[in-house]
This record gives sequence, C-alpha cells and structure tokens, in this order.
Amino acid sequence: MEFNNILETWYLNNKRDLPWRKSSNPYFIWISEIILQQTRIQQGLTYYNTFISHYPTVQDLANAHEDQVLKDWQGLGYYSRARNLHFSAKYICEELNGQFPKTYKELLKLKGVGDYTASAIASICYNEKAAVVDGNVYRVLSRYFNIDIPINSSKGIKYFKELAQELIQNANPREYNQALMDFGSMVCKPQNPLCEVCPLQNRCLAKSKNTIDVLPVKEKKITVKKRYFNFIVLDDGQHTILEKRTTNGIWKNLYQFPLIESSEIIDEKTLTKDDFFNNYQKPEDHLTLFNPESWVHKLSHQHLYTKFWILKTDKITSKSLIQWKNIEKYAISKLIHKFLEMYQTK
Ligand code: ADE
Ligand code: SF4
Repeated sequence: MEFNNILETWYLNNKRDLPWRKSSNPYFIWISEIILQQTRIQQGLTYYNTFISHYPTVQDLANAHEDQVLKDWQGLGYYSRARNLHFSAKYICEELNGQFPKTYKELLKLKGVGDYTASAIASICYNEKAAVVDGNVYRVLSRYFNIDIPINSSKGIKYFKELAQELIQNANPREYNQALMDFGSMVCKPQNPLCEVCPLQNRCLAKSKNTIDVLPVKEKKITVKKRYFNFIVLDDGQHTILEKRTTNGIWKNLYQFPLIESSEIIDEKTLTKDDFFNNYQKPEDHLTLFNPESWVHKLSHQHLYTKFWILKTDKITSKSLIQWKNIEKYAISKLIHKFLEMYQTK
C-alpha cells in the first residue's frame, strides 16, 4: 500500500469526532481552521461552539460588532486573526454576494487566509488537491522520510510543500489532509510518538535510523526584542480607566489600562515623572506596585516585561472612565485578564 492509503485507512478507523467534520460548509471549516491555528482541539472546540452559536452564518459575523468578535476571541491571542475573520466576513458579504470562494487560488485572496488555511478549506470543502502543511505534517513527513532540512527555513518550507503536494496527487484530498493532521497529533506526536502501534513503522526511515527525537529540525530563532510595559490601574473603589489600544500590533482594538512604556525596568520615582501623573499623585493618592517581579509575556518576536501599578485615588477624571463591575464586557488581552483575576480576588 502507498503512504496515503495507509494514512487514509488509519483515518477511517481513528478520526476524531469533531463538529465541523459533520459538514463541508466552508464557513464552518474556515472558522474551525483559524481557531485551530491558535490552540489545541479541546480548547478550540469551546471557542468554535461559541463562535458558531453567536454567528451561525457568514452574514451574522459580517453584521457583528468588532468589539464582540474580539470578546469572543478573548484568550486565544493573536487578535489580528479575529479582526481578519470579521473583515473577510464583511468582504464576502459585500463584495462576493455572500458566496464563499471555491478554489485554493481564490481563497488565498481573503485577508488572513494563507497557504495553510486556503489548502485546508479547498481540500476539505471542495476536495481540491491542495496539500496542507502544518506542524503535524512537518513532523510526520520529516520523520517518515528522514528529512533534516529546517522546517522554518525558506528552503525547508518550499521542500516540504512540494513533497506534500506530490503525495496528495494519488490521494483523496479531503481525507488525506485531515488524516495527516490527526495522525500527527495522535500517533506521531512531538514527544513519545506511538511507534509501536504506528501503521507506518516498517517503512519509517527515522525509526530505522533512530533519528525520531531530533526531527523535525528547526533553525534557531531570530533575536527577540524586550519591551517594558507599566500599566497604571486607577481605583477609586468603583471605577477605573480602560483605554482602547489603537496602535497596530497584536492587541490593536483591545482595551487596556493606561500604559506607560519604558526602555528598561523603572522605579516609582522615574515612573511618576510621566505626564500622565500631572492629573494624579496628590498627597492623598497612593501608588503601589502590584507585581514586583515583572510578568513576562512571550511572543514570537518580542518579550513584554509587564508591571501593574495600582493608583488608589479619590477622584478619577477621564473620558475613559468605566465601572469595575462592567469590566468583563470589554475585550482585553490574556495578560490583563490574568491581572484582573488576581486583583479582584484580593
Ligand atoms: N488541526 C487543524 N485543523 C485540523 C483538521 N482539519 N483536522 C485535524 N487537525 C487539525
Ligand atoms: Fe512517527 Fe514513529 Fe510512525 Fe515513524 S514510526 S511515522 S516516528 S509514529
């Protein structure tokens, strides 16, 4: 039997029962694939169910308010994915008469849809021979064929895409792509793959050459930028200030406490020189540092060293004043969420 037949047979008997697999509605598949780029199946299911119940059709998503979409995405990270979902839903409704694109090439034109997502939708919904290459596919192919080209190098990306595209030619695209992904996460796992029960074990080159543990190979990452965030949490007992973040980047359009960014870790004296404090820091105001150890939020290209400063004051003047009891209504980052959980239970 060929590689693809073995995997397809395995899939037939072992595939996971997932709600979007009961349908080939491209809208459902699109939502599920974008969510699954951010999280594992188990957590993804919860988000998927929320999304589909709030927005059962692409029209519903297009008509939604962006704040609500971001709220529903809260906790998944990389909020540009949610903004792009919303943007593309509007585009499909306004420019494409509500008709989802039907080919890999057309799907690629949607904002937020790259090679992976276009291949997934085209193959799963329309059975097009478009090979998906995600982390699972890199792992299975690099091991089965014993390939040590770094998967995050331009050479590797091209090599694995071409190999995957070649392999799908004799396959049943819909089943084969999903088979590879399920197989990668259930059998050929990153740590402790289940080689003893693997239907490919007799042909797997990494197994015979004893290279499983070092595959797939990844090139060392580029340098990471350090940034220092000081959030100022005003508190008069009932209110605080939340501002909408408008700068481009990961947290665009999410809400946050007033932010003072510094070029290094700073102390209270330096912090309070900031203009922000012109309106505050009267003798009766009281500033305390909530987390003396910075919380480090790691992103692919930057590490955010974050501190929360609590400013107890008897009078807050700001157009961004909100009530503590309403704070859950705002879309906030995971980091702010973590702070709130700790602050509010104190
Ligand atoms: N991970 C992301 N998308 C998937 C899919 N369609 N099947 C299995 N695993 C996945
Ligand atoms: Fe993966 Fe092991 Fe199967 Fe090779 S034998 S494909 S390493 S699970």
